[in-house]
Amino acid sequence: MNLPAIGTAMMKGRIWPSELIAGLLLLGLGLVGWHFATPWIMPLRVTEGPFVQRCETQSLTLSWFTTRAADCTVEVATDAGPRMIKATRDGLRHTATIDGLAPGQTYQYSLKSGAITLPEVGGVAHTAPPSSSRTARFVVFGDSGHGYREQYLLAKRIDDAQPDFIVHTGDLIYPGGERVHYRDRFFVPYRAVLQRAPFWPSIGNHDHADISAYLEFFDLPRNGPADSKPERHYWFDWGAARFVIVDSNAKEPELTTAVAPWVESTFAGFEGDWRFVVFHHPPHTAGKYAPDAKMTKTLVPAMQRAGVDVVFNGHDHMYERTHPLIDGARDAAAGIVYIVSGAGGAKLYQPRDPTSLPSNYALRHHTAHSFTTVEISPDGLRATQHAVDGALLDEWTLPQRRARTASQPG
Ligand SMILES: [Fe+2]
Repeated sequence: MNLPAIGTAMMKGRIWPSELIAGLLLLGLGLVGWHFATPWIMPLRVTEGPFVQRCETQSLTLSWFTTRAADCTVEVATDAGPRMIKATRDGLRHTATIDGLAPGQTYQYSLKSGAITLPEVGGVAHTAPPSSSRTARFVVFGDSGHGYREQYLLAKRIDDAQPDFIVHTGDLIYPGGERVHYRDRFFVPYRAVLQRAPFWPSIGNHDHADISAYLEFFDLPRNGPADSKPERHYWFDWGAARFVIVDSNAKEPELTTAVAPWVESTFAGFEGDWRFVVFHHPPHTAGKYAPDAKMTKTLVPAMQRAGVDVVFNGHDHMYERTHPLIDGARDAAAGIVYIVSGAGGAKLYQPRDPTSLPSNYALRHHTAHSFTTVEISPDGLRATQHAVDGALLDEWTLPQRRARTASQPG
């Protein structure tokens, strides 16, 4: 019966308004009941993840969320046979740390609840290589989480690049790091690669608007400065490379007194080949924004003293690469290369002056979404920038770390 017919019927006294309201109420109650009952009626499903966290040489952590509260286990295939690891559960969040593994090895895993293997999740994850390993391939991108078509297309390219791990330069979720957007703007597009490649995030200004979801999802090393909040700044090693991740939303006093000294001391004892730093706000950019004065003042001197090779930033929605720089001047022998890899899926920006590029910059590309792939080997570093259509936008190399001065430990 269509609406005019209902109206006619009501006027003729066959359907009373009270009966109609009661019917609608019943329909509404039914829909609400179905919404809440579905997770318990339908088979248990994974809604977010699994994703690899805190990957170390002998352990890795898997996290995932399910449609309802239920105990889960991870089954890992090892040389000694299958191992079952019971996950800890906090509401719908599950976490399992698998230890006792061998460095640089791959492990098949699946998720179970009771005797049931959860469908369409699991795969092969790997541990970090030993410090003697001098080869790696990783992907860097940022400013991604809008859920646009380009983000999804680029995610497929990132998966195809088969990275050992991923580093993110911040702004995972627009507009404000909201939990409700994490599924469609993070877990769904990167679903395949997150199941096998560790993901190391940094905090963008948009993620910082509501940091609670970021902290809920990510399980990060608690090895930052003693006086800072945990999981904002941290570091990790991957073979002969050390990565220091900084939250550039921190206030200047914290960056000056706690973070900068910590960056120096974290690299001081490191004897590997490569030193990388990752944070959101770029000290060098010729994009839409001005270079970040706070980071230039607080972190750049410390990174120079620490002999950092490459800094990865985001925030400006484009790709930029500087020549090796010391105090803003070109220095091929000891300079830091600054990369802005901020074209990961959000709307691209126009540079302030699109007609010219300052001489400190080797390249800028702002008309295509793109991501960075870095390969390190005993021969040096090779990096490429690929666009969402597969086009090669940039390719550059850096020789294996030049001789360090007395002020550059290691
Ligand atoms: Fe940003």
